[in-house]
Amino acid sequence: MPAGSIRDPLWDAVRSFGLEAVHIRRAPSAGPGGAPPGGVPATAVEVPAVESARDGEPLESLRRSLGECRRCRLGETRLNPVFGEGNPRSGVLLVGEGPGASEDESGRPFVGRAGQLLDRILASIELDRNSCFIANVVKCRPPGNRVPSSDEIEACGGILEEQIRILQPGVIVALGATAATHLLRTRQGINSLRNRFHDRGGIPVLVTYHPAALLRTDALKRPVWDDMKRLREFMQGAGLPRNGSDG
Ligand code: URA
Repeated sequence: MPAGSIRDPLWDAVRSFGLEAVHIRRAPSAGPGGAPPGGVPATAVEVPAVESARDGEPLESLRRSLGECRRCRLGETRLNPVFGEGNPRSGVLLVGEGPGASEDESGRPFVGRAGQLLDRILASIELDRNSCFIANVVKCRPPGNRVPSSDEIEACGGILEEQIRILQPGVIVALGATAATHLLRTRQGINSLRNRFHDRGGIPVLVTYHPAALLRTDALKRPVWDDMKRLREFMQGAGLPRNGSDG
């Protein structure tokens, strides 16, 4: 089907961005066992104990703990850690890969071009940053926008784990391969992970393509729109509210 003949809100969103090249991260070639070259064994991560999510304070104290984080080398080159933002009570957690240049400068997730597209994708199913929480696998920008290495992911993984524990989302959406691989501890590609919910310790995880990939590849718009419809149906069934809805 010619790209221009797709008629749906997501297509409108993507079309408004044009289809010219955007900065896409390149995965480092895998070393033996799939580990990136230079990868070092995973290190245990200690994050501050936080007891409950009742008043938002646990999330804030976790956020503060990130300020001077040097758990991995990314802490030495970043401008700002990007903890995440949104509504901690929404029940919906979106997880991307890691901050890019705009996010590094602002300290906010998904504010660059891919982030603007993400906003439009969310809007197509009546979601916005007040009706979900957006975080990343790693909280600091990998230099040159490279894919974070396995040791960086492991070093930072405890923060995301703690975010999930505090937020207790009703559903997690993995945006792209890095998030899917990390959250589901799988080597399967996105193509084979899409189209169903995966159980992650009792939390359903939906996998879709990263918005940056969508900007690059026209053919991914339709699958992402299908994924968003699946998310919307799930949220309706689970009673998770979207904008202007009771769930
Ligand atoms: N890409 C990501 O994966 N996360 C961001 O926050 C921005 C771009």
